[in-house]
Amino acid sequence: DLGGLEVLPGLVDSHTHIVFAAPRHEEFEMRIRGESYEAIAAAGGGILNSARKLQAMSEDDLYVQAAERLRTMIAHGTTTVEIKSGYGLTTDSELKILRVVKRLKQDFDIVIKATFLGAHGIPTEFKGEPDRYVDLVVEDMLPKVVAEGLADHIDVFCDRGFFTVEQTDRILKAAAAMGLPSKIHANELGLTGGVQVAVANGSWSADHLEHCSEVEIGLLRESMEMGYGGTVPVGLPGTSYFLGIPYAPGRALIDAGLPFAMATDFNPGSSPIASLQVVWALGCTQQKLLPAEGFCAVTCNAALALRCEKEVGALAAGQRANFFTTKTVDAVKAIPYFMGQNHCHEVFINGCLFV
Ligand code: NIG
Ligand code: FE
Repeated sequence: DLGGLEVLPGLVDSHTHIVFAAPRHEEFEMRIRGESYEAIAAAGGGILNSARKLQAMSEDDLYVQAAERLRTMIAHGTTTVEIKSGYGLTTDSELKILRVVKRLKQDFDIVIKATFLGAHGIPTEFKGEPDRYVDLVVEDMLPKVVAEGLADHIDVFCDRGFFTVEQTDRILKAAAAMGLPSKIHANELGLTGGVQVAVANGSWSADHLEHCSEVEIGLLRESMEMGYGGTVPVGLPGTSYFLGIPYAPGRALIDAGLPFAMATDFNPGSSPIASLQVVWALGCTQQKLLPAEGFCAVTCNAALALRCEKEVGALAAGQRANFFTTKTVDAVKAIPYFMGQNHCHEVFINGCLFV
C-alpha cells in the first residue's frame, strides 16, 4: 500500500556523455556574452577542451565523477542509461572512458549501454587531415574496442565542422562489419545528411534533429517499414535550451506516426542536464508534446532507440522491476507541468529500493 502515491516505470535515457573530466563554465560565459558553440569549437574549445582535460585524468577519478552523476540521474527516476565515449580522442583515452563505463555496468544494477564515439571531434594534431583521424578510429580504436567487448554501439558526430557523411558512412560500415549497430548525432547544426546516412546504414536511432525537414521525416517513416526495425528519432531538448538553437520537430515527428524519443544528452558542453523530468517538460512546452506523449518519449520509445523495449521502459509482465513512486498525484501530467522539481519519492531497481 503506497498510501495514494503513483508508480511509473523507470525512465530511459538513451543518449548521454557522462564520463567527462570537468564542467565548461568558461564557455558557458563566453556563449552568454554572444560567442557561438560552433565558433568556440572551431577555435579549439568545446569537445577538444573536454578531451584535453579527460586525457590528463585517471580512470579512477573519472569513475568517481561518473558514478556520482549516475546516482543523481537515478535519484531523478532514470534506471536505464546509454553512455558514450568521445572525450578521449586518442586510442588510450577512448578505451579509458569505455572501461569506466564497464565498471559502471558492473557496479550499478540498472541497464547501462556503452557507445563508442571516437569520431566526436577532430583532434588538433589532425587538423586539415580529418581522414587520417578517421583512419585511426577505424583501424586502431575500433578493433581494440571490439576486442575488449567495450561497446554495444558505435556513434559519429555527423555534422558541419565535424564528420562528413562520407566519413560517417565509412565508420558505420566498418563497425557493422565487426557486429556493432549504430546510433548517430545527426543534424544538430544544419541539414547535413545525417538522417540519410543513418537510415542507409540501418542505425537504431538518429539523435538531435534540431534541423529536420519533411524529407528527413519521410525517410524516417520509410525506415520503420524496413527489416531492421527503423531509425528512431531522438530529440535532445536540453541541448536546444542550453545552446539556444532550434528544437527538433517533435510534434511533426509524432504526427508522422514515428516513435519519437527524448534523452538528456547530459554533457559538459551542450546539455549539463541530468534529469529526464526536465527534458520531458521541455518536450511539452517547446516541442508541443502532450504530457503522455512526453512520457512515452522518455520511457518506451527511448527503450526502442536502444532496442531494449522488451526489458525496460514499461510496467509490464516480463519487464525489469525498475520503477519509481511519485510525490505528486496525476504524475504524468504533473511532472512536465511543475518543471524543475524532482517528483520521485522512491526509486526501485529490480524491485529493491535504491538509496
Ligand atoms: O550531443 N554534438 C555533439 N556532442 C555533444 C556535445 C559535446 C560537447 O560540446 O561537449 C552533443 O551535443
Ligand atoms: Fe550527444
